[in-house]
Amino acid sequence: GKYRVVSTKPMPGTRWINLLIEQDCRLEICTQKKTILSVEDIISLIGDKCDGVIGQLTEDWGEKLFSALSRAGGKAFSNMAVGYNNVDVNAANKYGVAVGNTPGVLTETTAELAASLSLSAARRIVEADEFMRAGLYDGWLPHLFVGNLLKGQTVGVIGAGRIGSAYARMMVEGFKMNLIYYDLYQATRLEKFVTAYGQFLKANGEQPVTWKRASTMEEVLREADVISLHPVLDKTTYHLVNKERLAMMKKEAILINCSRGPVIDEVALVEHLKATPMFRVGLDVFEDEPYMKPGLAEMKNAIVVPHIASASKWTREGMATLAALNVLGKIKGYPIWSDPNRVEPFLNENAPPPA
Ligand code: GLV
Ligand code: GLV
Repeated sequence: GKYRVVSTKPMPGTRWINLLIEQDCRLEICTQKKTILSVEDIISLIGDKCDGVIGQLTEDWGEKLFSALSRAGGKAFSNMAVGYNNVDVNAANKYGVAVGNTPGVLTETTAELAASLSLSAARRIVEADEFMRAGLYDGWLPHLFVGNLLKGQTVGVIGAGRIGSAYARMMVEGFKMNLIYYDLYQATRLEKFVTAYGQFLKANGEQPVTWKRASTMEEVLREADVISLHPVLDKTTYHLVNKERLAMMKKEAILINCSRGPVIDEVALVEHLKATPMFRVGLDVFEDEPYMKPGLAEMKNAIVVPHIASASKWTREGMATLAALNVLGKIKGYPIWSDPNRVEPFLNENAPPPA
């Protein structure tokens, strides 16, 4: 192979490997046991000559790594993730390294996990499972594990981009929930969908579903019964859900986070969970991954899973393939990937293209 490409982790499937090898690349896949590689580990992987790197969201892609990659002749980096809060895009631009992410292929998979957590929280599935396994079930009772009926309740979506919109659609159509959302951009297609579905229900003699675009995030927090967070993580969304905002939510609300951990002030969340036993949360991401803030693991009203929202076979193979195509496209000079900044800074599919 003419080009040296490094992947900091083995990734699912073989398509991404074949794509690179068939196109003159010598691929090196790091198989170090350590789950999270340090900047130093990656600098040594990059070495003296490296044309492109496929990296992971657990890695700190900043000044040090992009300068090392640039010194090694590298022109391309792809995160195997849609989120790129671990990537300093300005530093990449400074060193002439193109940056890619892997949107699209994980939209439905991630939305499905958010929906799973919503249902699991509403119906207390994890608590009930633990109860069963502990041998505590001694017969049906009218009040045993009573939860929330989603039908007719309101789902709140903060960040109605690809994933947020897909989740909203699932909850509205699947469970006949009303929608309230907050986003800087209008989610026109989503609004049209809910309107059409509402008309369909009405024509069938059922209560129609409704939608509302909130003018503030607080409006969503106050009105929704289930709230799912789908913003990008940046300075403006750090601790978006803090003590004050938790206090605005209904006492029996359900909060779901499949975006990035720091969007929630996790210490404040643990306090809120303790003080508000009927409030429930479903978390896929944490503020200091892989750690949880003290007390969270003991809370019965919390469901916690290890950042698996995009973890379906189809999606992970798709992400690996897209990451390989990002790097390959830049190396080979294919026009579609030659944009020096193929990340998508917009939350919403209706947003104008980057200037
Ligand atoms: C996963 O968290 C991703 O951003 O793809
Ligand atoms: C519950 O199992 C019922 O039959 O109502």
